[in-house]
Amino acid sequence: MAWHEVERASDSGAVSLTIDDIGLLLVRLNDDWFAVEDRCSHADCSFSSDGEIDGGTVICNCHGSEFDVRTGEVLVTPAIDTIRTFRVRESHGKLEVEL
Ligand code: FES
Repeated sequence: MAWHEVERASDSGAVSLTIDDIGLLLVRLNDDWFAVEDRCSHADCSFSSDGEIDGGTVICNCHGSEFDVRTGEVLVTPAIDTIRTFRVRESHGKLEVEL
């Protein structure tokens, strides 16, 4: 595991990026940042292509699953498995994701 500096493209909404061939969604929620893998656990749809963020919820528009962006837990099925989450920190004004 290592911290990777990421571009702070926006201070609101979600940003998609790739680190070590893993697609991520970086989401700002109030003053905190969260990162989830940009891949639905149900049938691998990409949230950045076929999804949306609503507050702290990642919604997959392929079949309607919803996930908590903070924990990756399933909020609405048909997905059963959590999605991967990654720690995010601010260090010296830079944003870093751990993976
Ligand atoms: S791929 Fe996301 S709900 Fe089916």
